[in-house]
Amino acid sequence: MKKIIFSGLILSGLLIYGCRKMPDQPDNSKIKLNLPSTVIDYSHIPSPTGTMEVYYEDGTLIDNNKATIGRVLFYDKALSFNNSTACASCHFQENGFSDTKATSVGFDGIATKRNSMPIGNLYNNVGTGYFWDTRSDNIEDMVFRPIQDHIEMGFENIALITEKLSNLPYYKELFKKAYGDENITTDRMRESLGQFLFSIVNINSKFDKGQKSNFTNFTSEERDGMDLFVENGCSSCHFINSEFSPDGASREKMANIGLDERDIDIGNNHQYRIPDMRNVALSGPYMHDGRFTSLNQVITHYGANVKANPYLSEELKSDKKPKVPTSNYFGESQSSIVFFLNTLTDEFTTTNVRYSNPFPAK
Ligand code: HEC
Ligand code: HEC
Repeated sequence: MKKIIFSGLILSGLLIYGCRKMPDQPDNSKIKLNLPSTVIDYSHIPSPTGTMEVYYEDGTLIDNNKATIGRVLFYDKALSFNNSTACASCHFQENGFSDTKATSVGFDGIATKRNSMPIGNLYNNVGTGYFWDTRSDNIEDMVFRPIQDHIEMGFENIALITEKLSNLPYYKELFKKAYGDENITTDRMRESLGQFLFSIVNINSKFDKGQKSNFTNFTSEERDGMDLFVENGCSSCHFINSEFSPDGASREKMANIGLDERDIDIGNNHQYRIPDMRNVALSGPYMHDGRFTSLNQVITHYGANVKANPYLSEELKSDKKPKVPTSNYFGESQSSIVFFLNTLTDEFTTTNVRYSNPFPAK
């Protein structure tokens, strides 16, 4: 008898839980977005050599109306199951669209497994793949993974999301402008999110400006740091030229830098994406697990702590960087490298209103 009552309780518990599995509808009916009456031109940005065209993953010019929808989606907490979490909750503009926590907190208060990545110059990933392990090979596949992730935004049943967004008045006009009618489909969401992400291009850092002026804008310390970055092979992995095309086979895409003797998180066959250095001074903590809080710690790793991991990349086995260094190889010049890395900060993308939150402050 007890058993029957008990299983009855479990069953009704499951039923109640099952019914609760509908997404919470936000009270956004009266929200007025801060968007200009003329659409922002995402397809062009200033650059050290004049105005530059910005391209989507498929090589076509960015569509301004679609990128605008993408911006709203990126900041909209309605994209999470319980309206608590937006993409921007783990990707902050002022931090190069990365998070200041080692691991981020998802919609249900649970921490993500890895460190949030900065977003910018995604064009460089075409043909390589997205995420630390490159598991997603196109942007329209990539953008729905966080929404459906059970830790990040919790919308496992994606069919429910278009229904939820269709009840939000501010999307109707935006979709009509971009697609000719008000229908919100998952394909349209994928594309517009992708368009917004691809519009984030870092080309206006001090370094980018310096490339056009033989670095006359650099201090001597920044120059020393740049020389060290090149001489020590950092630039053979972390490609820093201001080119926005996937620059062919010569470029490394993934590597293992011997953070541990053995990897706990094995990435993609013990290799991880080689991170872009733009905005790196703003995007700490560092590495796939966010283990280092400062750039100094990162460089100390390369100079003194590289572990003899069986998958260690060849570049880190050369004489210049001893296999298992005993004293800090970089010594006092370490700070110059940090000064140099600071020249890769792009204030255009980290402050410009076009990439900012369009929702009014509560
Ligand atoms: C709860 C935190 C969280 C939320 C919410 C979140 N992300 Fe992320 N994002 C991460 C983490 C962590 C990674 C790295 C994951 C990995 O590699 O396994 C990441 C990686 C990415 C990357 C990969 C960048 C690259 O260079 O490969 C992009 C782009 C991105 N997120 C966009 C988005 C978008 C768009 C949304 C909203 C639909 C979103 N994120 C929501 C935490 C989050
Ligand atoms: C063999 C290729 C390779 C070389 C050489 C290399 N790196 Fe890296 N770097 C990587 C990879 C891969 C990661 C990410 C590793 C991870 O998270 O497991 C990384 C991470 C970083 C990060 C953290 C970025 C972030 O967003 O978390 C910084 C900063 C960095 N490297 C700077 C340097 C400097 C400075 C040098 C030269 C002393 C250098 N790297 C040499 C491949 C390389």
